[in-house]
Amino acid sequence: MGDKKILCVGLVCLDIISVVDKYPEEDTDTRCLSQRWQRGGNASNSCTIFSLLGAPCAFLGSLAPGPVADFVLADFRRYGIDISLLVEHEECSFPASIVIANETTGSRTILHMNRNLPDVSAEDFSKVDLTQYKWIHWEGRNASEQVKMIQQVEKFNSTVPEQQRITISVEIEKTREILYQLFPYGDVVFVSKDVAAHLGFHCAADALRGLYRRVKKGAVLICAWAEKGADAMGPDGEIIHSDAFPPPVLVDTLGAGDTFNASVIFSLSNGEDAVVLYSGKSLQDALTFGCQVAGRKCGIHGYDGIVPQ
Ligand code: ADP
Ligand code: FRU
Repeated sequence: MGDKKILCVGLVCLDIISVVDKYPEEDTDTRCLSQRWQRGGNASNSCTIFSLLGAPCAFLGSLAPGPVADFVLADFRRYGIDISLLVEHEECSFPASIVIANETTGSRTILHMNRNLPDVSAEDFSKVDLTQYKWIHWEGRNASEQVKMIQQVEKFNSTVPEQQRITISVEIEKTREILYQLFPYGDVVFVSKDVAAHLGFHCAADALRGLYRRVKKGAVLICAWAEKGADAMGPDGEIIHSDAFPPPVLVDTLGAGDTFNASVIFSLSNGEDAVVLYSGKSLQDALTFGCQVAGRKCGIHGYDGIVPQ
């Protein structure tokens, strides 16, 4: 398993980030503290974190060729992320987000647009050589196609010895009904505070108690709750919690969730075997590690610096 990679399936987009110290009034003209382009998208951000943590990883997503793609590709390469699986779509626009990052509160306000770039399909996924991966993570998007991709992995898993099986994780972050069909497909399922709140839960522990029945037998359900930290529930029904690790100064929460997910997966995927993987202790360690790295991220702009030198 040593050199097998973690694969993330989902979005890469351009983040155009304007850093301000006060959220702008509508219809005003103000100067920002700074402005930058950053490679974004949940799956793409999580790859950045894997790379910074030292885990070999690959990204599978769609790309519209052009100058923005050139910027994004150069950045993927800078982090040593395997992009050999990228699916190119000529004639499409590159998805982008305008982000207002308020340095005083750490808040990030995102305006996202994806005009016409299609998500990867189950057919694209069928070309992946699954023997190269120990873990595949799906950012919930085109869920019906993603279910078909996961079924391909389940089929693969049923034909190989236990040590060669791929662990499957899914993230249900957006409050879109179609994404909820992913709950029963992950060995590890990340459900966001947004989704939990939308479904009427007031804290992570309540969300886990209410939503655990949706996941498959033996799965782990994880719910991060910003400055309240994160909770997890495994098959024994016990709720495990980690407090957040607030940075000395909160400056930028963009991608905190993607950082948390990657750090939890990193920690769980380094488990010796399935028993260690799902034992309470390693789950607690993974949750704590996820909150530590995500907390550090919130104290810096971008991602470089999440691993202390
Ligand atoms: P996102 O909104 O990016 O999906 P979350 O709000 O779910 O992210 O947060 C993910 C994790 O990031 C939390 O579990 C926590 O550990 C960390 N985090 C987020 N916001 C803060 C904060 N204000 N202070 C400290 N840690 C935070
Ligand atoms: C952060 C992020 C940004 C992107 C947006 C898309 O989690 O992935 O990089 O602009 O979310 O929803």
